[in-house]
Amino acid sequence: MLVMSEFQKPAAAISRPSAPVVVEVQALTKHYAGAQASAVCDVSFSVHQGECLGLLGPNGAGKSTLIGMLASLIRPTGGQARICGHNIVTHTQQVQSCIGLIPQDLALYPTLTARENLSYFGRLHGLRGQTLRRLVDEALAVVGLSDRANDIVEKFSGGMKRRVNLAAGLLHRPKVVFLDEPTVGVDPQSRSFILPRSRRSKHRAQR
Ligand SMILES: Nc1ncnc2c1ncn2[C@@H]1O[C@H](COP(=O)(O)OP(=O)(O)O)[C@@H](O)[C@H]1O
Ligand SMILES: [Mg+2]
Repeated sequence: MLVMSEFQKPAAAISRPSAPVVVEVQALTKHYAGAQASAVCDVSFSVHQGECLGLLGPNGAGKSTLIGMLASLIRPTGGQARICGHNIVTHTQQVQSCIGLIPQDLALYPTLTARENLSYFGRLHGLRGQTLRRLVDEALAVVGLSDRANDIVEKFSGGMKRRVNLAAGLLHRPKVVFLDEPTVGVDPQSRSFILPRSRRSKHRAQR
């Protein structure tokens, strides 16, 4: 169960109190029907533009539930939150257009190529034509898969699929990115590939 006291900003987080608040969470709570305890209980924090916040907690602590609520996919049972000023319950579309979600479970179409997968997700974000092609090419380059763009994802290693998953979440240049265990099940080599790229995308989003 995630409670407020379990949140800590990492020592390395860059504090930018003058930058606008992009994630604002107040007493957010989720109690799944029939559960004995709340999965997320009375959580409050805020994140300014340019900051990086890590959630630490064992399996079942409520991290994915919290991310699901902030991504407007899970309805809270208490409290409230705003992403880039948009209420997560009443303005789900606006919330989803300004976030990138890299889910814990891979969300890719295995029979499509890496490029086709990214083009599909880009289209869902309203990207078309040259802009879509340019952003897909850039995202493939960021995750080091330009030379595998036309191979079907099914044939990729676990680490490579994770990289496509990451690219899909960053493609549309979201203002806020949620990464839910982005390196789970990947080898140290791919981990050391994914994490710096996530940080780099943070700097790009700040511009
Ligand atoms: N859809 C659901 N329905 C009921 N209980 C759920 C559901 N999803 C998660 N839970 C429960 O909520 C708690 C937090 O789960 P989760 O958010 O997945 O934690 P974490 O991501 O930190 O591992 C767990 O006890 C889990 O069993
Ligand atoms: Mg989880």
